[in-house]
Amino acid sequence: MGSILVRGGTRLKGEVPVNGSKYVALAAIPAALLADSPVVIENLPDLSDVRVFCDILRGLGATVSFAGGVATIDPHGFRPGVPAPALVRKLRASYYLLGVMLARFGAADVALPGGDDIGPRPIDQHVKGLCALGATTSIEHGHIKATSTGLKGTTIYLDVASVGATINIMLGAVLAEGQTLIVNAYPAPWIIDLANMLNAMGAKEYGAGTETIRIQGVTKLHGCQHAIIPDQSEAATLMIAATLTGGDVTLHNIIPLHLGAVIAKLRETGAVILPAEDSVRLIGPRRPTAVNVKTLPYPGFFTDFQAPMSTLLTMAEGTSLVTETIWEDRFKHLEELAKMGAKVRIEGRTAFIEGVSQLTGAQVRGTDLRASASLVMAGLVAAGTTEVEGIEHMDRGYERFDAKLQLLGADVTRTE
Ligand code: EPU
Repeated sequence: MGSILVRGGTRLKGEVPVNGSKYVALAAIPAALLADSPVVIENLPDLSDVRVFCDILRGLGATVSFAGGVATIDPHGFRPGVPAPALVRKLRASYYLLGVMLARFGAADVALPGGDDIGPRPIDQHVKGLCALGATTSIEHGHIKATSTGLKGTTIYLDVASVGATINIMLGAVLAEGQTLIVNAYPAPWIIDLANMLNAMGAKEYGAGTETIRIQGVTKLHGCQHAIIPDQSEAATLMIAATLTGGDVTLHNIIPLHLGAVIAKLRETGAVILPAEDSVRLIGPRRPTAVNVKTLPYPGFFTDFQAPMSTLLTMAEGTSLVTETIWEDRFKHLEELAKMGAKVRIEGRTAFIEGVSQLTGAQVRGTDLRASASLVMAGLVAAGTTEVEGIEHMDRGYERFDAKLQLLGADVTRTE
């Protein structure tokens, strides 16, 4: 499993590129199975979740190559079957196989997915959407089974704006007969990027990025070449780390417009942020100022930036209130940070963080991907050495995060 040793005291300084979006990657890989010829996905991040998903596709008969950020997925050998349960349970996004396999074969049998332990993660909206399209579902022996005699377009009102349900319905409806409307769809850039890829494959999906997506079903899809957008969460984490260390960092391969909420919040803490067309330079303050943060669906302050942001606030001047509205149990990193001297009180979904002027190194454990990265980040400013365990979570969503920090001058070492 391994851990990361961080010796604190370095200001991050220099330039690094940001990898491709994890959310798009994990939807684009199963989406390729909808085509009748090879799909080339560029700017694909090298994450353990991506590698596992490629293995799941291979197990289903597809031919997949992945190197240098480019995957070629040839769906010719794709056959009905049960995706390897042990692999499916390793990640959340494996539930997209439900929409894809229903669309292609009229049947799916997929183990219930895994993913971060951040509170209850229901999939009722996925099921509701696919059933509205004409599927019948049941949960048996830890698997979700779905069948249909032909999916048909309809109007689906999502009760909550869900990333996963929006994508699963987009994948399921693309080959359905007639028109599907997804109302209260999740309005985010990564949904637009997935729609762009599907449309390059011959789909007719309109309105992605707004709350209403209209899908005109087509009878078949072909291969395409698609470069996925940069990862907002990695960019946000690196920007927050630069602020925390009082650093001077330039990130390349980003879309600043997609980072509006975190840029605004970091400016409130005192960071100077200079966005350019596809890069951003951030100069951290001597000591950040406390701010209040409430997580919201995009374009609000995104939940995946909360762990790094609340980590930053443990060292801010003053008291901050952080409210997590999306996931019930996403403050576990703060309990670990208390071992490093952070002063935190958690009441329900709100954390009261009284900034301290110094954290001290300790042995801590990250229990989800953002938590693990945040604890590594805390180690950068802690006195002495911090050992962060639970690095396998970080590797699910960050491409060689420790190597990027090293490029920026951090003293981090990975132990196996
Ligand atoms: N929800 C339901 N029913 C559903 C689906 C979701 O009630 O059927 C609720 C959830 O409980 C949650 C809210 O709706 O309160 C939003 O959940 P969503 O479906 O959007 O989450 P997800 O698709 O499971 C993705 C990301 C998460 C990210 C959320 C933000 C992937 C693989 N995961 O999860 O990423 O936090 O969207 O909404 O795309 C991470 O990268 O650290 C991470 C956890």
